[in-house]
Amino acid sequence: MKIVVIGGSGHIGTFLIPRLVESGHDVTNISRSQHPPYQQNAAWSEVTQISLDRNVVEASGEFGSQILALDPQVVIDLICFTLPSAVQIVTALKGRVTHFLACGTIWVHGFSVVVPTTEDQPRRPFGEYGLQKAAIEEYLLTEARLNNFPATVLHPGHIVGPGWKPVNPAGNFNLSVFEKLAHGEELCLPNFGLETIHHVHADDVAQAFMAAINHRAATIGESFHVVSPAALTLRGYAETVAGWFGKKAFLKFKPWEEWQVGVAKEDAAATWDHISHSPNCSITKASQTLNYQPRYTSLQAVKEAIDWLITAGQIKV
Ligand SMILES: NC(=O)c1ccc[n+]([C@@H]2O[C@H](COP(=O)([O-])OP(=O)(O)OC[C@H]3O[C@@H](n4cnc5c(N)ncnc54)[C@H](OP(=O)(O)O)[C@@H]3O)[C@@H](O)[C@H]2O)c1
Repeated sequence: MKIVVIGGSGHIGTFLIPRLVESGHDVTNISRSQHPPYQQNAAWSEVTQISLDRNVVEASGEFGSQILALDPQVVIDLICFTLPSAVQIVTALKGRVTHFLACGTIWVHGFSVVVPTTEDQPRRPFGEYGLQKAAIEEYLLTEARLNNFPATVLHPGHIVGPGWKPVNPAGNFNLSVFEKLAHGEELCLPNFGLETIHHVHADDVAQAFMAAINHRAATIGESFHVVSPAALTLRGYAETVAGWFGKKAFLKFKPWEEWQVGVAKEDAAATWDHISHSPNCSITKASQTLNYQPRYTSLQAVKEAIDWLITAGQIKV
């Protein structure tokens, strides 16, 4: 099929685009051409690259029509972050594509009630990013239900892979957390260290997009979590990472208010964002409907990312 991927050279696209090409699809990638994919793959030589800035073209009201002009059968929108952005592309593509797949986030859930959270639980998002993603999801699924727009939404967890920093056991991206654990040094975690984070390997996200395309009829008007088989507690994650380096984690705990004092503002904000959501999502729906079978547990995905960061000299052990 003729497939247009919007934002396909990042974490997800690095794995998704080669999978699409290898399955025989005619693939076009839309990006600004500012960042190459995280891994090289011969499949990229068969991809048509169109360089444009979505924000700029959208502001002139022409983004949707430019995508339509490519005459795609399937559009995979990996970088839609606002409701107006979704409205513009859906308005242009209505009645003209056989499948529209959008990338959401498990942040649409906000605070969980019953965990593991299932897709049918009422949305309680907070924070601009989660609020917008939930609004986009609602809009797309309503368009599917009422107007036959062939939309599917996939909600990844924290995307992990070789080439970038995973969310660490303190819930932020500071690589010194891994170094402390590797050296058996003291690491202070917020609260009891029992809040959760839910990773997913980027290739498992790619696997889910492929499966959604291949199970089109069953996925239209539906959303799916795309996460590893199980979430991690901060404490358990820290203890496991220390063990990889032959150390016992030397953990201290402080209530959030005390913990954040002395932590860099950026790190504290990332930790707050992750632990206030404390995601723990179910993959039952994706497993049953898409035959989604993640290749990586959270720890396996993180281990691969850490190995890459050590080899790249970004984590010193
Ligand atoms: N990262 C996570 O942990 C996470 C977790 C849950 C959900 N998500 C969702 O995953 C999606 C992002 O996927 P990703 O992590 O694979 O993305 P990513 O790694 O940030 O890559 C973004 C892609 O979009 C392109 N791009 C960025 N800004 C653009 C613009 N203004 N115009 C055109 N192209 C642009 C980038 O290439 P250029 O820079 O070359 O333009 C790149 O191809 C989002 O919908 C996000 O909400 C991410």
